[in-house]
Formats: sequence, structure tokens, C-alpha cells
Amino acid sequence: MDKFVIEGNGPLNGEIAASGAKNAALPILCAALLSDAPLTVTNVPDLWDVGTTGKLLGQMGVSVSRPDAHTRVLDARGITTCVAPYELVRTMRASILVLGPLVAARGEAHVSLPGGCAIGARPVNLHLMGLEAMGAEIKLEGGFVHAKAKKLKGARIVFDTVTVTGTENLMMAAVLAEGETVLENAAREPEVVDLARCLRAMGAKLSGEGTTTIHVQGVAKLHAAEHRVLPDRIETGTYLAAAAATRGRVLIRDTDPGLLDAVLVKLQQAGAIIRTGTDFIELDMQGQRPKAVNIHTMAHPGFPTDMQAQMMAMNCVAEGTGTIRETIFENRFMHANELLRLGADIRVEGNTAIITGKERLQAAPIMATDLRASASLVIAALAADGETLIDRIYHMDRGYEGIEQKFRALGAQIKRVEKLLP
Ligand code: EPZ
Repeated sequence: MDKFVIEGNGPLNGEIAASGAKNAALPILCAALLSDAPLTVTNVPDLWDVGTTGKLLGQMGVSVSRPDAHTRVLDARGITTCVAPYELVRTMRASILVLGPLVAARGEAHVSLPGGCAIGARPVNLHLMGLEAMGAEIKLEGGFVHAKAKKLKGARIVFDTVTVTGTENLMMAAVLAEGETVLENAAREPEVVDLARCLRAMGAKLSGEGTTTIHVQGVAKLHAAEHRVLPDRIETGTYLAAAAATRGRVLIRDTDPGLLDAVLVKLQQAGAIIRTGTDFIELDMQGQRPKAVNIHTMAHPGFPTDMQAQMMAMNCVAEGTGTIRETIFENRFMHANELLRLGADIRVEGNTAIITGKERLQAAPIMATDLRASASLVIAALAADGETLIDRIYHMDRGYEGIEQKFRALGAQIKRVEKLLP
């Protein structure tokens, strides 16, 4: 299992490019199941989860070609099975995103239940509720969701909790259903909007994406299309938080400042000077220590839960005390225990963490527990005195393309060491 060795050596400084958004690429690749014509997807991030999705679709008989690291061409005409097996689903819960498209396009789907994960139970009951409302027969057996429907029918679906992949699954299912589907209390995340744009390019008829109500008029079939994945706002925010924590100055290009307003507001409150253009963000701390900020995670356009751990790391070395309230997932403070090992002052009370910043942290061996938690540990290690060893960094490879190359381009002393098997 690989580890990172990180030397805390002062402010980050430099320029990097953002990759395409993981959480848009995954549903967009699955949307290929809806079409009997090729779908070309560009600006795909070269990530572990994208590889897993390619394997999942490939073992169903979808042809997945890779003209280059950031392009995939998919063609679902050769599908031979509608099964998403446990050994793939357990490594990536987003595999559930094949459910809606398979039922809509093939009349059946057998998808292993994703099960919980480190950050919470993460049920998929709302995905299933929506498909049942559209006429699918759902059975849970042997750890699988078995779904069947001769032809899905449009329905009005009200989500009692805002769910990103739930909205995406049902929006895709509705594209080929008979009649109109209305999704109420839909997720407004930019990745949902990007999926909707891709579906429209494929011939789908839908409107309202980015608002809480999405309307979809079912169509008989889709046609060939090409779609460029939008920039990754969480990757962008991660490097900006690292620059703030290390009192540095970085420019992120190939991104879109409009995707992460709530994060930029908080970084400005921390004392950062933020300069933006249509496709870049520059953050400059002018060598100053960040000020502590208060964070309350919410569904978009609120502060994103996927940036919570990274801002906790910044608060650990900020001036003053900041509180972080996590309202989306029930167990998303695991990074706090590892940050304490670096000398951080964090008190967790239920879903609130109170962090009193320290001038510097002290290096120590730590362990990553989930994707965004591992990013927060890298940020903390960059702001710590000495050499920190971070274990289980495979979590990072799932969601951050070329992370050590990008951090090195910003002046970080970070290297990956393979753990020699005993
Ligand atoms: C998506 O997960 C993202 N993943 C997550 O990013 C992100 O943290 C999350 O949205 C919230 O923004 C992808 O897009 C692949 P939810 P998702 O359904 O869709 C509850 C990362 O780090 N819920 O919006 O699984 C659920 O338990 C990952 O990139 C139900 O109760 O999250 C949670 O409390 C981590 N029943 C809340 O809703 C359901 O049927 C929000 O979950 C579905 C969800």
C-alpha cells in the first residue's frame, strides 16, 4: 500500500491546471447505457474511480475506448448483461448510477447494494423510491437490487432529502420513460447540471437543472453526442485551501470560479486575496496566517461537504477558533483523529467540531480514511514542522489526478513511497 512522505516546507507557490470533475464524469459515463449510439466524453479526469466505472461498463459488454488519458468513447449497443457485481460496486458506491439507465434502456438491472462506507450509512432508498414511482418492480435479494420494468412511466417524484446521485439516477431513468417526469427537491450541484447538459446533447428533453425542480419529457431514443466534463470544483478548492493553510500564493487554471462561490467566500473570510477570471482563480495570502472560519455544510449552493475536511485542516493552523458543522453525513470527522496526532486542537461534539488554530503543527505518522479526509491530511502535513508519513493514500488516487505532481508543481516536498510487503 503506497504512502506519502511530506516535508512541511513553507508556502505553496505556483500555477496548476484543474482536471475534469470526478463527480460529473462518473454519471456521464453511465449515461452511455441510455444510448444506442456512441458517446464521446472529453476532459475526463484520469482517476481510479473512472477506471472502475470503465471496468463496470466493460464487463456489461459496453465498448469503452480510451483515445487518450482524458477521453473515453463508449458504445452500449453490445450490452450482454445488466449486472453490476459486488466486487466492483464495493470499491465504488457510485456504481449505483448504472441502475436508472439500465432499467430505462434495457428493462432490467441487477446492481449490488453499495453498503455503507466510512463517512456514513449512505442508503439508496430514494433512488429505489423514484424508480418504483415510475413503475419499476424492485426486489432486494442476496445483497442486490433487482429492478424490472417493461417501460418506465413519467411520474412526479419528491425527494425528502436532497440526494445528488439520486437526482442523477432518476433524471437518467426519466429520459427514456413514457411521458413527463418532475423531480422536486432535486439536487442543484454543478455536476447534476453537467450531466443534464450531456443528456441534452444526446437528444434528451429536459429543463430546470440547477434548480430544485427538474422536468424531463421522455423520448424514444438518443443519438451520438460528444460532451466535455466541467472542471472539478472540489479539486480546485482543495489546492486553494492548501495554499491558504501554508500562507502561499497559487493560481488554478482550467477551472470555473462560479462553481465554488461558497468556498471562495470562506477563503476570503480567512484573509485570502482572491482574483478570478472566466477560467482561473488566484489565491494570495500575502504571507499571512489564515484567520479561523466557521463552516456549515449544506447542499449546493451552500458550503460543500466535500470541502469540509480541507477547511478543517486550514483551521488547525489559523488564528482564532472556528467551528465546523457537518449536516450531510453522519460520520465525516474521521480526519479529526488523525489531525490531533499532528498536534491540532480539535473538540468534536456530535456533528460540530471546534478547532483552535496553532501557529504550526508537528509531523507524525498518520493514516487516510476516506477520499477527502486524505486531502485534509496532506494539507495539514504541508503546514507541519518535520516529515509526515501518510498511509493508505489509495483513497486519494480515487479522486485526485496526479496529486503529488500537482503539489510538487506548487513547491511542496511530497513523494510517494511504495510500502514493501513484509
Ligand atoms: C454525492 O454522493 C457525491 N458523490 C459525494 O462525493 C458528495 O459528498 C455527496 O454527493 C454530497 O454532496 C458522487 O457524486 C459520486 P447524497 P451521494 O445522495 O449522491 C442521504 C466525494 O468525496 N441519502 O447527496 O451518495 C445520504 O445518506 C464523494 O467525491 C438517503 O438518505 O450523496 C446523505 O446523508 C463523497 N437516501 C445525504 O442523503 C438516499 O437514497 C446526501 O447524500 C440517498 C441519499
